[in-house]
Amino acid sequence: MQNQNDQSRMDRIVSLAKRRGFIFQSSEIYGGLNGFWDYGPLGVALKRNLKDAWWHDMVAGHDELATLTGAPSPYEMTGLDCTIIMHPQVWKCSGHFDLFHDWMIDCRESKRRYRYDHLHGRWAAHRGKKVFVTTDASGDEAAPATVARAQKFFGLRAKQVDEIEWGGGLESLQQAIAAGSATLADTLGPDAAAPGSLTEPREFNLMFETRIGALAGDDEDRAFLRPETAQGIFVNFKNVLDTSRVRVPFGIAQVGKSFRNEITPRNFTFRSREFEQMEIEFFCKPADSAAWYRYWRDRRWKWYLDLGLTAGRLQLREHAADELSHYSVGTADIEYAFPFLAAGEFGELEGIAHRGDFDLRSHMEGKLVRKDGELVVETGPDGKPRHKGSGKDLSYFDDITRERFVPHVIEPSAGADRATLAFLCDAYHEDEVPDEDGKPRSRTVLKLHPRLAPIKAAILPLVKKDGMQEVAIDLYRALKPHMACQYDEKGSVGRRYARQDEAGTPWCLTVDGQSLADRTVTLRDRDSLVQQRVAIDEVVDLLRDKLS
Ligand code: GAP
Repeated sequence: MQNQNDQSRMDRIVSLAKRRGFIFQSSEIYGGLNGFWDYGPLGVALKRNLKDAWWHDMVAGHDELATLTGAPSPYEMTGLDCTIIMHPQVWKCSGHFDLFHDWMIDCRESKRRYRYDHLHGRWAAHRGKKVFVTTDASGDEAAPATVARAQKFFGLRAKQVDEIEWGGGLESLQQAIAAGSATLADTLGPDAAAPGSLTEPREFNLMFETRIGALAGDDEDRAFLRPETAQGIFVNFKNVLDTSRVRVPFGIAQVGKSFRNEITPRNFTFRSREFEQMEIEFFCKPADSAAWYRYWRDRRWKWYLDLGLTAGRLQLREHAADELSHYSVGTADIEYAFPFLAAGEFGELEGIAHRGDFDLRSHMEGKLVRKDGELVVETGPDGKPRHKGSGKDLSYFDDITRERFVPHVIEPSAGADRATLAFLCDAYHEDEVPDEDGKPRSRTVLKLHPRLAPIKAAILPLVKKDGMQEVAIDLYRALKPHMACQYDEKGSVGRRYARQDEAGTPWCLTVDGQSLADRTVTLRDRDSLVQQRVAIDEVVDLLRDKLS
């Protein structure tokens, strides 16, 4: 189970994120909007650095002449930036229109709405009265929540709680109803005073709907905000092939906003209604697809480790064979042990999926369904395709081998907000450092990888006199064209170090009396706290080397 420290650690991370301007609730002055988050001055830099690192490492910096470790051959990478609103037929053929839903359940009494699979409960009895008590709390908070609910329902005082007889541990309400071990009539909703207030579960499509044009009204105007960036890539596959010189195998990458009308957004930015994805659709020959799947799974796993996520909090979870679509040879999730989860639980950062030829065929032929182990176009009662494809030929002709085929797709799909949150949680440390008088002082420090840190270096004149400011300003101006840095002369140097530690700044450069005599500064390392003297004229090269 999650321990109390981890939840309170999460609370402290959320508090730091707000206090230091990493993440704010959207529209906060109007009470906020659930599931929507804004990035403040430090947060926008952190998230941008993360997206830039991804784009650089996967696309812009990719060496298409080399065979990278684990890759079956050299390959090309290119990019796209597609619109958020696309032709509604895109979502019909992709399957999102029919299938992208969660089950929700309403409470007639409290008027609250829950995601069915988020409700857990257990049987409680007292003096012949029995009820299935539910909660929407997760992790460590779930069991105590059911105790509090049962206590209130039976009208007991705190010291009488032990009189409650519990019929087993917490289980999913959905599974309990399916197994027949509970009924909705016996169920006490998470915010209800009496049992039987929960409605039958209903499907709820997660796509946000909108209308296009001034004459909005009829079904023709109906459109959706994209729930993933991937489809923009599939529908542009032919455009990219026809206009660039890429050859299979190659990948198309895209970073951008996606929208899902999550029933219960929760856990800070982890499950939001508006978020950013970083997706690659990698097109390859069907015969090589298993090897490319393994390459991308391992490559993406290593990316998180190289940027400093703690290996012990990361997990690569291969889906079991019975979880896979029949056309897929593999799907793996890269997961992180977020502090808001119970011990042993992990939350998804990225999925790497082998998608076969499902997506390109869907946009050629129409929405596909699985029938007798084969993917076939789904037909309506009139025998015509339920959702008609574009009819455009999305196959690929290899002019060297003279083969024509529909490429298979490997899809590494990452969430920029979830990754930002994971790096923030992982970087958060509390330790003790000596203050200016050598006494231990507790500090909060973000040990972010220098590539991700919002500010790379802070330039601090020890005092505001004797020409130290001028030297520090010159150094700031020399460094600024090369990296994000900050000049700070306010407060004691100890307070300034503390401010930079909380912001995750890896290096502080202090200009002191000696600097005026020999043109050196102290370079303080955020993590080791080692201070060394370096020549002012070498600072730019030194820090650029460290960053690269
Ligand atoms: N094209 C495949 C796809 O969209 P997904 O697993 O639904 O796959 C990919 O989403 C990634 O997007 C997830 O691993 C997660 O990082 C991020 N993501 C999905 N839903 C999210 C949400 N509601 N809030 C924040 N990030 C989300």
